[in-house]
Amino acid sequence: MRILVLGGTMFLSRAVAADAVARGHDVTCAARGESGTVPDGAHFVHLDRTAPDWTALEGEWDAVVDVARTPSWVAAALDHLAEAHWTFVSTISVYADHSTPGGTPETLPLLPPITEDVEQDSAEAYGSSKVACEQDVQARAREAFIVRPGLIIGPEDPSGRFSYWPERLAEGGEVLAPESPDRDTQAIDVRDLAAWIVTGAENRLTGVYDATGRVQRLGDLVDEVSKAVGGDATVIWAPADFLLEREVTYWAGPRALPLWLPDDARGMTSHDVSAAFDAGLTTRPVGETAADTLAWLRENPDAPRTGLSRAEEQDLLDDWYTVNG
Ligand SMILES: NC(=O)c1ccc[n+]([C@@H]2O[C@H](COP(=O)([O-])OP(=O)(O)OC[C@H]3O[C@@H](n4cnc5c(N)ncnc54)[C@H](OP(=O)(O)O)[C@@H]3O)[C@@H](O)[C@H]2O)c1
Repeated sequence: MRILVLGGTMFLSRAVAADAVARGHDVTCAARGESGTVPDGAHFVHLDRTAPDWTALEGEWDAVVDVARTPSWVAAALDHLAEAHWTFVSTISVYADHSTPGGTPETLPLLPPITEDVEQDSAEAYGSSKVACEQDVQARAREAFIVRPGLIIGPEDPSGRFSYWPERLAEGGEVLAPESPDRDTQAIDVRDLAAWIVTGAENRLTGVYDATGRVQRLGDLVDEVSKAVGGDATVIWAPADFLLEREVTYWAGPRALPLWLPDDARGMTSHDVSAAFDAGLTTRPVGETAADTLAWLRENPDAPRTGLSRAEEQDLLDDWYTVNG
């Protein structure tokens, strides 16, 4: 197949291109080339979507994969490429309800679309822009495959969220963890998601899917990651009020315990993804993702990281013992 990846120079879109090349497809990646390089074996075409020149991309494509979040970028791509099988990589941030567990595209309400291009410094603006992009793809592409990932993890992750855990657990010792091992978590290895996107293009899959891994207890994820990275961690689960009083934050960023979510976001990590699995998605154990992520972090010491510093964590553990004796 002739596959055009709009992107292809980083993380997911790069993994899609790499997977498609490995399967013998003829792969072109169109981007500025600022985020990185395309995988070996893929062709690179310069495209700046803020002022796109589509001349070099005219022609017949069997499949297009787009990861954009800006409605005018997607609209312009559709003007030129709507005849191909279209995978639009969206997000579970399109939903207006993040509190109901077990949601699916059929059961969860969407945010209202924002069709104009906006600065996306909020989750709502991001989600609403993606809704508008999805709707354009569904209206105009001959075959639309809408993929809504949850947290994407693995080597080359630019967010550093999951990466915190393999790196921290590999160091061992007493490791501070958020709230309870019984909380749900849910994530997908970037290579598994990429493989399913390529399979979807090969099979001309259409429809709307939440695309993340199966729900897992946070405690099981921590145990599995710890074993896979060879750490001898003793995990201290600190309750939410202890953490919040000390300004530890949810999910990502400075002073965060990555992957921790508030109660009213429980739905984000408990989607029912059986439809994606029924349609061919397969996922590897999180321990494998952890080991590969750690290897990548060690080869790339400047890779993005997020979350508590070791000094902050130690202060919190000291406090924990002061409070709990
Ligand atoms: N990470 C997560 O946990 C998560 C969760 C849910 C959904 N998602 C979705 O998953 C997808 C991730 O895609 P990704 O990893 O490939 O990262 P991305 O940041 O969405 O896209 C990056 C690609 O876009 C290209 N790009 C950026 N600006 C451009 C411009 N002006 N003109 C042309 N190309 C441009 C970049 O290439 P150059 O910079 O080289 O031009 C790069 O190849 C996104 O759709 C995201 O919304 C992610």
